[in-house]
Amino acid sequence: MSNRTFTMIKPDAVKAGNIGNILQMINAAGFKIIAMKYTQMNNTLAGKFYEVHKERPFYDELCDFMSSGPIVAAILEKDNAVADFRKLIGATNPANAEEGTIRKKYAASMGENAVHGSDSDENAVIEGNFFFSMMERP
Ligand code: RTP
Ligand code: MG
Repeated sequence: MSNRTFTMIKPDAVKAGNIGNILQMINAAGFKIIAMKYTQMNNTLAGKFYEVHKERPFYDELCDFMSSGPIVAAILEKDNAVADFRKLIGATNPANAEEGTIRKKYAASMGENAVHGSDSDENAVIEGNFFFSMMERP
């Protein structure tokens, strides 16, 4: 499964009308979309998704933001998917994101940073399974 990662286009980017622009960048970077859905998490589900950050000071704010509007969730495929996708999205804080990255282009702040990308192969599987049933992720 090391050739797959999981992403979300976050509520800020969906609200700003950047779904198409971001998918374009993802495709142009060589990622194939394996599964995709437009949906919205409630606060409880956002809390489960980001459970690893439960003890962090920004957790409540993160859950409020991630449940504040629709998102696009997707499973992506490419050689070295996890690392290459983290490179494509750029640093968590867009002020530190490199030129040409998705966050540099479309993220406004550390909290509202346009996209999520899995941080390990293991989490890519867990996160993909969180959003997609077996028949939705061939
Ligand atoms: P993500 O999981 O969403 O792809 O982001 P990431 O790996 O780059 O960053 P991570 O450390 O996993 O943090 C998850 C999300 O929490 C928000 N955050 N806010 N105010 C803060 O100090 C702070 N730190 C993190 C961000 O929205 C980050 O994407
Ligand atoms: Mg993360």
